[in-house]
Amino acid sequence: MIKSDQIQAMQKALENSIHDYSFGTHPNALYEPISYLMNIGGKRIRPLLCLLSYRLYKEDYESILLPAMAVEVFHNFTLMHDDIMDKAPLRRGKETVHEKWNANTAILSGDVMLVKAYDLLLKMPENKLAKSIALFNQTAREVCEGQQLDMDFEAKKTVTEGEYLEMIRLKTAVLLGFSLQFGAHLAEASQEDQERLYQFGVNIGIGFQLKDDLLDVYADKSLFGKQVGGDILANKKTFLLIKALELAKGPIAERLDYWLHLEDYDKNEKVEAVTDIYDELEIKSLSEDKMRDYFERGFDQLPRLHPSSAEGLRLLWSLAEDLVNREK
Ligand code: IPE
Ligand code: IPE
Ligand code: MG
Ligand code: MG
Ligand code: MG
Repeated sequence: MIKSDQIQAMQKALENSIHDYSFGTHPNALYEPISYLMNIGGKRIRPLLCLLSYRLYKEDYESILLPAMAVEVFHNFTLMHDDIMDKAPLRRGKETVHEKWNANTAILSGDVMLVKAYDLLLKMPENKLAKSIALFNQTAREVCEGQQLDMDFEAKKTVTEGEYLEMIRLKTAVLLGFSLQFGAHLAEASQEDQERLYQFGVNIGIGFQLKDDLLDVYADKSLFGKQVGGDILANKKTFLLIKALELAKGPIAERLDYWLHLEDYDKNEKVEAVTDIYDELEIKSLSEDKMRDYFERGFDQLPRLHPSSAEGLRLLWSLAEDLVNREK
Protein backbone atom coordinates (compact mmCIF):
# COMPACT_ATOMS: atom_id res chain seq x y z
CA MET A 1 0.00 0.00 0.00
CA ILE A 2 1.59 3.27 -1.13
CA LYS A 3 0.18 6.02 1.01
CA SER A 4 0.36 9.69 0.30
CA ASP A 5 2.71 11.75 2.46
CA GLN A 6 -0.25 13.52 4.00
CA ILE A 7 -1.93 10.32 5.13
CA GLN A 8 1.38 9.06 6.45
CA ALA A 9 1.82 12.28 8.42
CA MET A 10 -1.64 11.85 9.95
CA GLN A 11 -0.88 8.26 10.81
CA LYS A 12 2.40 9.30 12.42
CA ALA A 13 0.69 12.00 14.46
CA LEU A 14 -1.87 9.46 15.68
CA GLU A 15 0.80 6.89 16.46
CA ASN A 16 2.69 9.47 18.51
CA SER A 17 -0.32 10.52 20.53
CA ILE A 18 -1.19 6.88 21.22
CA HIS A 19 2.38 6.15 22.23
CA ASP A 20 2.62 9.20 24.49
CA TYR A 21 -0.75 8.74 26.16
CA SER A 22 -0.59 7.34 29.66
CA PHE A 23 -3.46 4.95 30.28
CA GLY A 24 -2.46 4.57 33.92
CA THR A 25 0.21 2.91 36.01
CA HIS A 26 -1.12 1.31 39.15
CA PRO A 27 -2.02 -1.49 39.41
CA ASN A 28 0.29 -2.48 36.59
CA ALA A 29 -1.67 -5.66 35.86
CA LEU A 30 -4.67 -3.52 34.86
CA TYR A 31 -2.83 -1.04 32.62
CA GLU A 32 -0.03 -3.05 31.03
CA PRO A 33 -2.35 -5.10 28.77
CA ILE A 34 -3.84 -1.84 27.48
CA SER A 35 -0.49 -0.36 26.43
CA TYR A 36 0.42 -3.76 25.03
CA LEU A 37 -2.61 -4.05 22.75
CA MET A 38 -2.56 -0.37 21.76
CA ASN A 39 1.09 -0.53 20.74
CA ILE A 40 1.47 -3.79 18.82
CA GLY A 41 0.27 -2.28 15.55
CA GLY A 42 -3.13 -1.93 14.01
CA LYS A 43 -4.10 -0.04 10.90
CA ARG A 44 -5.73 2.86 12.81
CA ILE A 45 -8.42 3.05 10.12
CA ARG A 46 -11.15 4.52 12.30
CA PRO A 47 -9.24 7.51 13.74
CA LEU A 48 -7.74 8.09 10.29
CA LEU A 49 -11.23 8.25 8.80
CA CYS A 50 -12.13 10.71 11.54
CA LEU A 51 -9.14 12.95 10.78
CA LEU A 52 -9.68 12.72 7.02
CA SER A 53 -13.33 13.59 7.39
CA TYR A 54 -12.37 16.64 9.49
CA ARG A 55 -9.74 17.50 6.89
CA LEU A 56 -12.50 17.84 4.26
CA TYR A 57 -13.58 21.04 5.99
CA LYS A 58 -10.70 22.23 8.19
CA GLU A 59 -6.93 21.95 8.08
CA ASP A 60 -5.86 21.82 11.72
CA TYR A 61 -6.51 18.11 12.24
CA GLU A 62 -3.86 18.10 15.02
CA SER A 63 -6.45 19.82 17.22
CA ILE A 64 -8.68 16.71 17.24
CA LEU A 65 -6.08 13.97 17.71
CA LEU A 66 -7.29 13.08 21.21
CA PRO A 67 -11.01 12.75 20.40
CA ALA A 68 -10.04 10.80 17.25
CA MET A 69 -7.94 8.54 19.45
CA ALA A 70 -11.05 7.85 21.57
CA VAL A 71 -12.48 5.90 18.64
CA GLU A 72 -9.32 3.79 18.38
CA VAL A 73 -9.34 3.07 22.12
CA PHE A 74 -12.99 2.04 21.93
CA HIS A 75 -12.19 -0.21 18.94
CA ASN A 76 -9.33 -1.86 20.85
CA PHE A 77 -11.61 -2.40 23.84
CA THR A 78 -14.03 -4.28 21.56
CA LEU A 79 -11.14 -6.34 20.18
CA MET A 80 -9.90 -7.29 23.65
CA HIS A 81 -13.33 -8.66 24.54
CA ASP A 82 -13.99 -10.04 21.04
CA ASP A 83 -10.87 -12.18 21.26
CA ILE A 84 -12.14 -13.80 24.45
CA MET A 85 -15.52 -14.42 22.83
CA ASP A 86 -13.92 -15.81 19.65
CA LYS A 87 -11.23 -17.81 21.51
CA ALA A 88 -8.65 -16.11 19.31
CA PRO A 89 -5.00 -16.88 20.02
CA LEU A 90 -3.46 -14.13 17.87
CA ARG A 91 -3.99 -10.44 17.27
CA ARG A 92 -1.72 -8.26 15.13
CA GLY A 93 0.80 -11.08 15.00
CA LYS A 94 1.07 -11.29 18.79
CA GLU A 95 -0.61 -13.27 21.54
CA THR A 96 -4.06 -12.00 22.47
CA VAL A 97 -4.42 -10.41 25.91
CA HIS A 98 -6.48 -13.27 27.37
CA GLU A 99 -3.79 -15.74 26.21
CA LYS A 100 -0.82 -13.72 27.39
CA TRP A 101 -2.50 -12.88 30.70
CA ASN A 102 -5.95 -14.39 31.30
CA ALA A 103 -9.63 -13.79 30.53
CA ASN A 104 -10.33 -11.88 33.76
CA THR A 105 -7.51 -9.47 32.97
CA ALA A 106 -8.82 -8.97 29.43
CA ILE A 107 -12.31 -8.28 30.76
CA LEU A 108 -11.20 -5.70 33.32
CA SER A 109 -8.55 -3.97 31.20
CA GLY A 110 -11.16 -3.82 28.43
CA ASP A 111 -13.65 -2.22 30.81
CA VAL A 112 -11.24 0.53 31.80
CA MET A 113 -10.48 1.16 28.11
CA LEU A 114 -14.14 2.05 27.58
CA VAL A 115 -13.80 4.59 30.39
CA LYS A 116 -10.59 5.91 28.83
CA ALA A 117 -12.42 6.36 25.54
CA TYR A 118 -14.82 8.74 27.34
CA ASP A 119 -11.89 10.58 28.94
CA LEU A 120 -10.51 11.19 25.46
CA LEU A 121 -13.88 12.28 24.11
CA LEU A 122 -13.90 14.96 26.81
CA LYS A 123 -10.99 16.58 24.95
CA MET A 124 -13.34 18.01 22.33
CA PRO A 125 -14.81 21.52 22.45
CA GLU A 126 -17.68 21.69 24.90
CA ASN A 127 -20.23 22.82 22.33
CA LYS A 128 -19.69 19.57 20.40
CA LEU A 129 -20.00 17.25 23.39
CA ALA A 130 -23.70 16.53 23.78
CA LYS A 131 -24.35 15.50 20.19
CA SER A 132 -21.07 13.58 19.89
CA ILE A 133 -21.68 11.57 23.06
CA ALA A 134 -25.25 10.79 21.99
CA LEU A 135 -23.99 9.50 18.61
CA PHE A 136 -21.13 7.61 20.24
CA ASN A 137 -23.44 5.95 22.76
CA GLN A 138 -25.83 4.83 20.05
CA THR A 139 -22.87 3.40 18.11
CA ALA A 140 -21.40 1.61 21.13
CA ARG A 141 -24.78 0.07 21.97
CA GLU A 142 -25.17 -1.10 18.37
CA VAL A 143 -21.70 -2.69 18.35
CA CYS A 144 -22.73 -4.75 21.41
CA GLU A 145 -25.97 -5.73 19.67
CA GLY A 146 -24.02 -6.86 16.61
CA GLN A 147 -21.57 -8.83 18.73
CA GLN A 148 -24.45 -10.61 20.48
CA LEU A 149 -26.05 -11.51 17.14
CA ASP A 150 -22.68 -12.78 15.91
CA MET A 151 -22.53 -15.18 18.87
CA ASP A 152 -26.22 -16.16 18.59
CA PHE A 153 -25.64 -17.03 14.93
CA GLU A 154 -22.80 -19.48 15.72
CA ALA A 155 -25.35 -21.87 17.15
CA LYS A 156 -28.06 -21.19 14.58
CA LYS A 157 -28.55 -23.65 11.73
CA THR A 158 -29.50 -21.12 9.12
CA VAL A 159 -28.90 -17.41 8.92
CA THR A 160 -30.12 -15.41 5.94
CA GLU A 161 -27.93 -13.05 3.96
CA GLY A 162 -30.11 -10.19 5.20
CA GLU A 163 -29.65 -11.18 8.84
CA TYR A 164 -25.89 -11.44 8.29
CA LEU A 165 -25.67 -8.01 6.64
CA GLU A 166 -27.59 -6.44 9.51
CA MET A 167 -25.33 -8.18 12.05
CA ILE A 168 -22.14 -6.82 10.42
CA ARG A 169 -23.70 -3.38 9.97
CA LEU A 170 -24.05 -3.34 13.75
CA LYS A 171 -20.85 -5.00 14.92
CA THR A 172 -18.50 -3.26 12.48
CA ALA A 173 -19.95 -0.77 10.02
CA VAL A 174 -21.60 1.76 12.34
CA LEU A 175 -18.26 2.51 14.03
CA LEU A 176 -16.72 3.49 10.68
CA GLY A 177 -19.83 5.58 10.04
CA PHE A 178 -19.53 7.24 13.43
CA SER A 179 -15.81 7.98 12.95
CA LEU A 180 -16.56 9.86 9.74
CA GLN A 181 -19.60 11.70 11.04
CA PHE A 182 -17.73 12.64 14.21
CA GLY A 183 -14.82 14.18 12.25
CA ALA A 184 -17.25 16.15 10.11
CA HIS A 185 -19.25 17.31 13.15
CA LEU A 186 -16.06 18.53 14.86
CA ALA A 187 -15.26 20.47 11.68
CA GLU A 188 -18.75 22.01 11.68
CA ALA A 189 -19.78 20.45 8.38
CA SER A 190 -23.44 20.68 7.36
CA GLN A 191 -25.88 18.11 8.70
CA GLU A 192 -26.36 16.78 5.14
CA ASP A 193 -22.65 16.18 4.70
CA GLN A 194 -22.43 14.54 8.13
CA GLU A 195 -25.20 12.15 7.15
CA ARG A 196 -23.64 11.35 3.79
CA LEU A 197 -20.32 10.64 5.44
CA TYR A 198 -22.10 8.37 7.92
CA GLN A 199 -23.71 6.46 5.01
CA PHE A 200 -20.36 6.31 3.24
CA GLY A 201 -18.84 4.81 6.40
CA VAL A 202 -21.58 2.27 6.96
CA ASN A 203 -21.38 1.02 3.38
CA ILE A 204 -17.60 0.76 3.23
CA GLY A 205 -17.81 -0.71 6.75
CA ILE A 206 -20.00 -3.55 5.48
CA GLY A 207 -17.48 -4.03 2.65
CA PHE A 208 -14.69 -3.95 5.25
CA GLN A 209 -16.25 -6.79 7.28
CA LEU A 210 -16.94 -8.83 4.12
CA LYS A 211 -13.23 -8.47 3.38
CA ASP A 212 -12.38 -9.42 6.98
CA ASP A 213 -14.38 -12.64 6.57
CA LEU A 214 -12.61 -13.38 3.29
CA LEU A 215 -9.19 -12.79 4.83
CA ASP A 216 -10.07 -15.08 7.73
CA VAL A 217 -10.07 -17.94 5.20
CA TYR A 218 -7.77 -16.79 2.41
CA ALA A 219 -5.19 -14.46 3.98
CA ASP A 220 -1.48 -14.96 3.68
CA LYS A 221 -0.58 -16.19 7.18
CA SER A 222 2.62 -14.18 7.34
CA LEU A 223 0.80 -10.88 6.73
CA PHE A 224 -2.57 -11.42 8.41
CA GLY A 225 -1.60 -11.39 12.10
CA LYS A 226 -4.67 -13.39 13.15
CA GLN A 227 -5.34 -17.11 13.18
CA VAL A 228 -6.33 -18.17 9.66
CA GLY A 229 -9.52 -20.27 9.73
CA GLY A 230 -10.76 -19.06 13.11
CA ASP A 231 -14.22 -18.35 11.70
CA ILE A 232 -14.43 -21.87 10.23
CA LEU A 233 -13.47 -23.43 13.57
CA ALA A 234 -16.19 -21.43 15.36
CA ASN A 235 -18.86 -22.17 12.72
CA LYS A 236 -19.22 -18.40 12.31
CA LYS A 237 -22.05 -17.55 9.98
CA THR A 238 -19.93 -15.50 7.64
CA PHE A 239 -21.04 -14.55 4.15
CA LEU A 240 -18.91 -17.44 2.89
CA LEU A 241 -20.60 -20.06 5.05
CA ILE A 242 -24.09 -18.69 4.42
CA LYS A 243 -23.54 -18.89 0.65
CA ALA A 244 -21.99 -22.36 0.93
CA LEU A 245 -24.99 -23.60 2.92
CA GLU A 246 -27.26 -22.09 0.29
CA LEU A 247 -25.45 -23.49 -2.75
CA ALA A 248 -24.19 -26.88 -1.58
CA LYS A 249 -26.25 -29.83 -2.85
CA GLY A 250 -25.91 -33.60 -2.60
CA PRO A 251 -22.53 -34.91 -1.45
CA ILE A 252 -21.03 -31.44 -0.97
CA ALA A 253 -23.93 -30.50 1.32
CA GLU A 254 -23.36 -33.71 3.27
CA ARG A 255 -19.65 -32.99 3.69
CA LEU A 256 -20.37 -29.47 4.87
CA ASP A 257 -22.98 -30.70 7.32
CA TYR A 258 -20.53 -33.33 8.59
CA TRP A 259 -17.81 -30.76 9.38
CA LEU A 260 -20.25 -28.29 10.93
CA HIS A 261 -21.50 -30.91 13.38
CA LEU A 262 -18.32 -32.82 14.12
CA GLU A 263 -17.30 -32.16 17.72
CA ASP A 264 -13.94 -33.84 17.92
CA TYR A 265 -11.70 -32.84 15.04
CA ASP A 266 -8.22 -31.83 14.03
CA LYS A 267 -8.26 -28.03 13.56
CA ASN A 268 -6.17 -27.93 10.39
CA GLU A 269 -8.20 -30.70 8.87
CA LYS A 270 -11.49 -28.90 9.43
CA VAL A 271 -10.17 -25.60 8.07
CA GLU A 272 -8.82 -27.35 4.99
CA ALA A 273 -11.99 -29.36 4.39
CA VAL A 274 -14.33 -26.37 4.66
CA THR A 275 -12.01 -24.21 2.55
CA ASP A 276 -12.09 -26.92 -0.14
CA ILE A 277 -15.87 -26.77 -0.12
CA TYR A 278 -15.79 -22.98 -0.50
CA ASP A 279 -13.41 -23.40 -3.42
CA GLU A 280 -15.58 -26.01 -5.13
CA LEU A 281 -18.58 -23.69 -4.84
CA GLU A 282 -16.57 -20.64 -5.95
CA ILE A 283 -17.65 -18.71 -2.88
CA LYS A 284 -14.60 -16.46 -2.89
CA SER A 285 -15.59 -14.54 -6.01
CA LEU A 286 -19.22 -14.26 -4.86
CA SER A 287 -17.97 -12.76 -1.67
CA GLU A 288 -15.61 -10.37 -3.47
CA ASP A 289 -18.46 -9.18 -5.68
CA LYS A 290 -20.59 -8.46 -2.64
CA MET A 291 -17.73 -6.62 -0.97
CA ARG A 292 -17.10 -4.44 -4.05
CA ASP A 293 -20.81 -3.71 -4.26
CA TYR A 294 -20.81 -2.21 -0.78
CA PHE A 295 -17.64 -0.21 -1.37
CA GLU A 296 -19.22 1.18 -4.56
CA ARG A 297 -22.39 2.11 -2.66
CA GLY A 298 -20.19 3.97 -0.22
CA PHE A 299 -18.18 5.75 -2.92
CA ASP A 300 -21.46 6.94 -4.49
CA GLN A 301 -21.89 9.28 -1.53
CA LEU A 302 -18.60 11.08 -2.04
CA PRO A 303 -19.41 13.24 -5.10
CA ARG A 304 -22.47 14.53 -3.22
CA LEU A 305 -20.38 16.13 -0.48
CA HIS A 306 -19.53 19.83 -0.28
CA PRO A 307 -15.98 19.78 1.10
CA SER A 308 -13.81 22.88 1.40
CA SER A 309 -10.81 20.90 0.25
CA ALA A 310 -10.77 18.90 -3.00
CA GLU A 311 -7.40 17.51 -1.92
CA GLY A 312 -9.02 16.29 1.31
CA LEU A 313 -11.63 14.41 -0.67
CA ARG A 314 -8.97 12.77 -2.79
CA LEU A 315 -7.14 11.62 0.34
CA LEU A 316 -10.27 10.14 1.90
CA TRP A 317 -11.17 8.38 -1.33
CA SER A 318 -7.71 6.87 -1.70
CA LEU A 319 -7.60 5.59 1.87
CA ALA A 320 -10.97 3.91 1.39
CA GLU A 321 -9.90 2.39 -1.91
CA ASP A 322 -6.88 0.84 -0.25
CA LEU A 323 -9.23 -1.03 2.08
CA VAL A 324 -10.62 -3.05 -0.84
CA ASN A 325 -7.25 -4.62 -1.57
CA ARG A 326 -5.88 -4.85 1.94
CA GLU A 327 -4.07 -8.04 2.97
CA LYS A 328 -4.42 -7.62 6.72
C1 IPE B 1 -10.70 -5.79 13.10
O1 IPE B 1 -10.55 -4.47 12.75
C2 IPE B 1 -12.09 -6.01 13.59
C3 IPE B 1 -13.12 -5.79 12.57
C4 IPE B 1 -14.12 -5.00 12.77
C5 IPE B 1 -13.06 -6.48 11.31
P1 IPE B 1 -9.26 -3.96 11.97
O2 IPE B 1 -9.04 -4.80 10.75
O3 IPE B 1 -9.40 -2.50 11.75
O4 IPE B 1 -8.10 -4.27 13.01
P2 IPE B 1 -6.77 -3.44 13.36
O5 IPE B 1 -7.17 -2.38 14.31
O6 IPE B 1 -6.19 -2.90 12.10
O7 IPE B 1 -5.87 -4.45 14.01
C1 IPE C 1 -15.22 -8.19 15.17
O1 IPE C 1 -15.49 -9.06 14.13
C2 IPE C 1 -16.05 -7.01 15.29
C3 IPE C 1 -15.76 -6.31 16.58
C4 IPE C 1 -14.66 -6.44 17.26
C5 IPE C 1 -16.76 -5.45 17.11
P1 IPE C 1 -14.43 -10.24 14.05
O2 IPE C 1 -14.52 -11.12 15.25
O3 IPE C 1 -14.55 -10.88 12.72
O4 IPE C 1 -13.05 -9.41 14.11
P2 IPE C 1 -11.61 -10.09 14.10
O5 IPE C 1 -11.53 -10.93 12.86
O6 IPE C 1 -11.50 -10.89 15.34
O7 IPE C 1 -10.66 -8.94 14.05
MG1 MG D 1 -15.97 -11.68 16.64
MG1 MG E 1 -12.87 -11.98 16.35
MG1 MG F 1 -12.86 -11.55 11.55
